[in-house]
Amino acid sequence: MISVDISNIWGSAALPDLLSIEKEVFDAHKTLEDATGAGNDFLGWRHLADDPENDEVMRIRAAAKKIRESCDVFVVVGIGGSYLGPRAALELLYGQNHNLTKGHPQIFFAGNNLSTASWHELCQLLEGKDFCLNIISKSGTTTEPAIATRALRWMAERKYGAEKAKERIFVTTDPAKGALRQMATEEGYETFVIPPNVGGRFSVLSAVGLLPMAVAGIDPVEILTAAHQARKELDIRSFDNPVWQYTASRNLLYRAGKVMELLCCYEPDFTFFGRWWQQLFGESEGKDGKGIFPACAEFTADLHSLGQMIQQGERNFFETVVKFAPPKKKVAIEMDWKDLDGLNYLEGKTLDFVQEQAFAGTLAAHTDGGVPVILLQAGDISVSTIGELFYFFELACGVSAYTLGVNPFNQPGVEFYKKNMFHLLGKPGY
Ligand code: PA5
Repeated sequence: MISVDISNIWGSAALPDLLSIEKEVFDAHKTLEDATGAGNDFLGWRHLADDPENDEVMRIRAAAKKIRESCDVFVVVGIGGSYLGPRAALELLYGQNHNLTKGHPQIFFAGNNLSTASWHELCQLLEGKDFCLNIISKSGTTTEPAIATRALRWMAERKYGAEKAKERIFVTTDPAKGALRQMATEEGYETFVIPPNVGGRFSVLSAVGLLPMAVAGIDPVEILTAAHQARKELDIRSFDNPVWQYTASRNLLYRAGKVMELLCCYEPDFTFFGRWWQQLFGESEGKDGKGIFPACAEFTADLHSLGQMIQQGERNFFETVVKFAPPKKKVAIEMDWKDLDGLNYLEGKTLDFVQEQAFAGTLAAHTDGGVPVILLQAGDISVSTIGELFYFFELACGVSAYTLGVNPFNQPGVEFYKKNMFHLLGKPGY
């Protein structure tokens, strides 16, 4: 199970304060589990993993097999909660270059921007390739994926003919409502469901995350089994609960003026997991003039860019470091007879040993510099750790937002830019 080490926050938080916030966290967790809080019609994410071998999961497995057998490229169309989760899992498990190294169809993500350059690049990547599409949108009307969908559907129909193209298009959307549901029904595409009581950023354990993961070879049953196990383990109603420890510490630090959380990891392949986390917490907590600003950093790379700011800049943030178990396959540093780089003192030491010293040195420097650090120990990088991490952060986000006093499950602010954009674009009704 994920463990939380809060021994490096005491410079900015005191034990009595932590004990006094415990009651608030208890209440927040109870509110969430009893479904009595704001947004309680969006709590379906807690049960997505209840039955890891349900019919939908079996259909996902079958569709993934078909996709793997029939295409070179699998394009996942979606934005925000409709793509960050599966991309996070893929990159953390297989690496950012998984399309070059793994045996699954190449997997590209589209419809998450309005960039002409990205579109041209995707067209180039698809040239001469057999492809399948997974269009993911709960509302079915989000502009970015809708534009990409229109173009990719035409591309598929031109290449395969209208009827054959249908076999290559898979839709993940609301079970009954929305433009995408209507399109899928009229065109006869195979569909998967985002339950109405699951919001986008909490949907990774639905078909939103599971189908792209399954195409990449990550078994949905394994992911769900791990998340299900996490749900059971994280149901402890005491301060032994790592979710409580994380939630209490971050809210306490926020009250002490630490208005920003920097989620750091020493694995570059964690980058998209960080972005998934960033959306989860940012969209859930940032409202009513409140919220801890979620930012991400990759260590050690960003120590060479953000390090100065972290060490000596404004003291208004804390760090949460996600730490994985040491790698099983080690790499040793070799001897060089000329030793021009002066590294022979490390001869025979392993790369992860050096990383561990960088971690320990950075932790000491940052805490000395007035940056409280929460440490999340997450075990080895594996399918089950990923399933556990998804559920851990979702639960922590819900409990934390209630502790903060906001509704975790709406996002009224996201609509503002859209309204302005629609007005400028001349969309009817705006
Ligand atoms: O968390 C959310 O609700 C949002 O980030 C959505 O996931 C995102 O805006 C995409 O919406 P949709 O799936 O309706 O296209």
